Amino acid sequence: MQRIVVINMKGGCGKTTIATNLASALATMGRNTTLIDYDAQGSSMYWLKQRRGEYSEINGIAAYDTNKAVTQSWRLQLPFDTEYVIVDTPAGLKGLDMVDQINGAHTILIPVLPSSIDTHATADFIRDLYLIAKVKPKNIRLCIICNRVKANTLSFHTLENFLSAMDIPVIAKLRETQNYNKASERGLGIHELGSKASEKDIEDWRQIVNWLDMEQQVQS
Ligand SMILES: Nc1ncnc2c1ncn2[C@@H]1O[C@H](COP(=O)(O)OP(=O)(O)O)[C@@H](O)[C@H]1O
Ligand SMILES: [Mg+2]
Repeated sequence: MQRIVVINMKGGCGKTTIATNLASALATMGRNTTLIDYDAQGSSMYWLKQRRGEYSEINGIAAYDTNKAVTQSWRLQLPFDTEYVIVDTPAGLKGLDMVDQINGAHTILIPVLPSSIDTHATADFIRDLYLIAKVKPKNIRLCIICNRVKANTLSFHTLENFLSAMDIPVIAKLRETQNYNKASERGLGIHELGSKASEKDIEDWRQIVNWLDMEQQVQS
């Protein structure tokens, strides 16, 4: 079982979009997938409620409406044959709350937007991961997804410069597109839209899932 935590202190960077698209991509591949929502806004669980029965099944756990002791017992609520646990997290997590969320993670996925404010906040967050949560790259895989990318913009180049200075793989650069909103309204991943307009985005997700799946094979 692999636990993938989608996290960044910054709000609005695409945590829910990435957690839900990842869950649906894995479920469509036949992987037994559970989506855990720790954000009190409950956006991932709302997304799951919109999902109709003909699409691949995803198990959902609304961890935000339980007390802390229950929250930490997430393992007990998992179906025994779970292959992937995808965790959507709230913004603004710091200190021990951040440590709690990444507890037991195999992979930490950090979405980041190309803006100087987001780049700066993400740099602080990654520093906290190393210094406060004591994340060791040999135990937990850290990776970055750049989100809402507009190629050839100054803010994207600023982000690329920042990322190239760090030893964390950038596993995808997702473009800005309304396809994500269209899919999310229906509780779908972008690959389930069945639209020619989303082919480029589907390819991005194929790469992300291959990368994570390959790593899963290596681990198991
Ligand atoms: N690549 C993208 N292109 C267009 N809109 C996006 C993209 N990624 C996220 N969004 C939109 O941006 C908003 C914030 O994204 P969300 O995933 O909810 O962020 P978070 O969970 O980090 O707060 C949502 O309305 C979402 O649909
Ligand atoms: Mg969210």
